[in-house]
Amino acid sequence: MTKPFPDTMDFAGFNQPSRVECDIYDLVIEGELPAEINGHWFRATPDPQYPPMLGEDTYLSGDGMVSCFRFENGHVDFKSRYVMTERLKAERAARRSLHGKYRNPFTDDPTVAHLIDRTVANTTPVWHGGKLLAIKEDGLPYELDPYTLETIGRYDFGGKLRSQTMSAHVRIDPETGEMFCYGYQAGGLASRDVAFCVISRDGELVREEWFQAPYAGLMHDFAVTREHIIFPVFPTIADKARIEAGGDFWRFEQEEKAYVGIMPRNGTVDQIRWFTQPACSSFHFMNAFTEGSKVHVDFGKSKCPPFPFILAASGMSFDPTTLRSAYVRWTFDLASPEDRVEERVIGPAGDFPRVADRDHMRDYRIAYYQTFDPKVGPPVIAGPVGVAFNTLMRLDVTTGEVQRYSPGRGKSIQEHIHIPSSQPDHEGYLAFVVDLHDTGLSEVQVLAAARPEEGPLARIQLPLRLRCQVHGNWVPASDLPLP
Ligand SMILES: [Fe+2]
Repeated sequence: MTKPFPDTMDFAGFNQPSRVECDIYDLVIEGELPAEINGHWFRATPDPQYPPMLGEDTYLSGDGMVSCFRFENGHVDFKSRYVMTERLKAERAARRSLHGKYRNPFTDDPTVAHLIDRTVANTTPVWHGGKLLAIKEDGLPYELDPYTLETIGRYDFGGKLRSQTMSAHVRIDPETGEMFCYGYQAGGLASRDVAFCVISRDGELVREEWFQAPYAGLMHDFAVTREHIIFPVFPTIADKARIEAGGDFWRFEQEEKAYVGIMPRNGTVDQIRWFTQPACSSFHFMNAFTEGSKVHVDFGKSKCPPFPFILAASGMSFDPTTLRSAYVRWTFDLASPEDRVEERVIGPAGDFPRVADRDHMRDYRIAYYQTFDPKVGPPVIAGPVGVAFNTLMRLDVTTGEVQRYSPGRGKSIQEHIHIPSSQPDHEGYLAFVVDLHDTGLSEVQVLAAARPEEGPLARIQLPLRLRCQVHGNWVPASDLPLP
């Protein structure tokens, strides 16, 4: 018999596990959904099948549930399916959780010791080279059928990938179609091995080069320009002895430095040049570009990681509404031999940065990201960090001008996607799930990207509650035809 889930932040209220695999045809829509929006919005969500074996766990350990909103000529259908990982299959067979602490195999039930990895594939759905991959950074991707969302199996690029892991954040060059990614702890648990990988437009693994990071740090995202690859390493660090003793996987080490490695995109990993900064943290990079000898990297800088379970393991506690400091641009001058980084504030604090796909890797003007604005209402709990965002922002990085939209008090927003328009001089659309805390249900709002402050063009109603997506991606019908 499956017992109730714990009554804690990660499992209660809007974070209560849903575990619903379903198909809903023709969702009810208020307003006017532009008929030019045709394609698939894939989302990845942690959604634990079973209560945690050790009584408590983080939201981020939840089994991967991939869902898709399929947009077709003003209609929207919804589908959700679990990613049938080896881990989930073993747990379903045993009818209980068999995995212990976050990323710690030494705390698992001995019956799962033979599994190749413990991944739940719950972080990002990536569409590239004609394949849909569900990825979490602690293991290999899982390939899914993009129409049925059924799991095809673990994916290692036809046996070519040597790394044991692949990053959940990838960068796709809008001109060449190449996908850049990496695996950290590529050679095993808490190792310093990083495998830098390039996948060709048609999905071939064409480069895999390994290097050593300064320490076994959390490398959730990276940045790519047309000329350079940027590897940030922040001091949230894994320690093998601690993990083997059954301890916490991550600990934020305030005395360590942050490192940024920069290599020429057409060079090799032995050309990586490391820059240092005082300890800080970031999970997501907005964009980056090269200008002569200078490399500019834009991201949301935090004092420390926002996840309560990492802070607790580090003996720290922070109000999640204040730990993010600002959006900054770090500029590295490769012509100078000095270990120096110029920092400039470009926007308010926040996270979930996104630029239009066509703007990746080059000088750009517009970005969209989210923040918590206490003026909108008191904090509400949803997602892995606890306090959820309630405000979407459009930032002009060249002027600092910010336009804001909030759905209002008692509502939180999940990560948005950007949907390009086929009309000339049209900035496209932003779409995101809104958590309706009063009814316990969800809806999707679609805004004009150029004017978010004007509010939704359409609201797509859902008859259920959608747990917070970690990440989602838009795949237009031109890249993946509608069935
Ligand atoms: Fe992420």
